[in-house]
Amino acid sequence: MAYAAFRSIGAYAPQKILTNQELSDMVDTSDEWITKRTGILERRIAAKDEKNSDMGAKAAEIALQRSGIAKEDIDLVICGTISPDYFCMPSTATIIAKKVGIKGAMAFDISAACTGFIYSLSIARAFIESGMKKNVLVIGSEKLSSITDYTDRGTCILFGDGAGAAVICATQNKEEAIVDINTGADGEYADLLMTPNGGSGSAHDALEKETAGCYMQMKGNETFKIAVRTLTNDVKDILEKNNIKSEDVQHFVPHQANLRIIKAVGDALKMREDQVVLTVAKYGNTSGASIPMAINDLYEADGLKKGELMLLDAFGGGLTWGSALIPFSPLK
Ligand code: COA
Repeated sequence: MAYAAFRSIGAYAPQKILTNQELSDMVDTSDEWITKRTGILERRIAAKDEKNSDMGAKAAEIALQRSGIAKEDIDLVICGTISPDYFCMPSTATIIAKKVGIKGAMAFDISAACTGFIYSLSIARAFIESGMKKNVLVIGSEKLSSITDYTDRGTCILFGDGAGAAVICATQNKEEAIVDINTGADGEYADLLMTPNGGSGSAHDALEKETAGCYMQMKGNETFKIAVRTLTNDVKDILEKNNIKSEDVQHFVPHQANLRIIKAVGDALKMREDQVVLTVAKYGNTSGASIPMAINDLYEADGLKKGELMLLDAFGGGLTWGSALIPFSPLK
């Protein structure tokens, strides 16, 4: 039987920095409020002509180069995103594949909001374990600035742009394989986080499509409470199921939505500070890109070594959630 190994990581963050101070000139907020309630100090914003796929392709190039796998050998490309280049079609995954020179591989997008990267990893793993694919490029890429309402202080302070990518490959060695991935969803809470217009589910005219309904809307406080409860239960479950204690995890890499959510879940799991990977201060919430961007930061700081176990968790619109236990298994 084939197993799935996490071989490499790459990421890209756009140049432009948007600070809390700059946001407080745009909406009724303050650096102090944002820092205290979210832990975010700044976020990156893509250039006007910089597409989601441009960022995703840059992250993918780095992950491919570090993986030691030739792009000709990639047979599946998955992109987790809620801010694609084009709604409906073509998928951002197909455009990224073209930009990095991958031809003929199956390619598609996954819509699971902030859980997009974990969902994509679970699909990559399933394709590999079933023997259908061997080398999968998994990307999380977001241009959230394109769907953010910069007059809404409840959301615009949170989100940023960026991309991350990983190469997942078939292996016969169980020791280096992804241990487990949990995934879940509950449409009962679909209205907590949504972009109400722009799709076939809403009655609107063409003009309305151009307006605020195409931006993200969030019931922040309700989402916050469900996120803490759901993530704590989900992460406890994946650890217990696999007979792994939180102290056996080298790196806890949570979705970077809000420092208070990360702290609450980390405390419930009795994680030490040095186990928790934090990038929320400098990138804000980059949805499907946040986990691979955080893993990449750890890797580039020389903090991620072969064989070390990562625990990932994420929660987002849908509602969706997931967690994963993954050893870092580079070829070299
Ligand atoms: N600046 C200043 N005040 C703000 C503000 C801002 N940017 N945003 C909201 N407020 C105000 C509210 O209007 C409210 O005022 P009121 O008490 O006069 O009504 C007060 O601050 C408290 O609002 P509340 O929404 O309860 O704050 P909060 O502590 O829940 O923080 C979020 C708001 C959005 C930061 C937080 O709820 C959050 O992070 N939610 C979850 C995000 C998430 O995980 N999403 C899922 C994955 S994307």
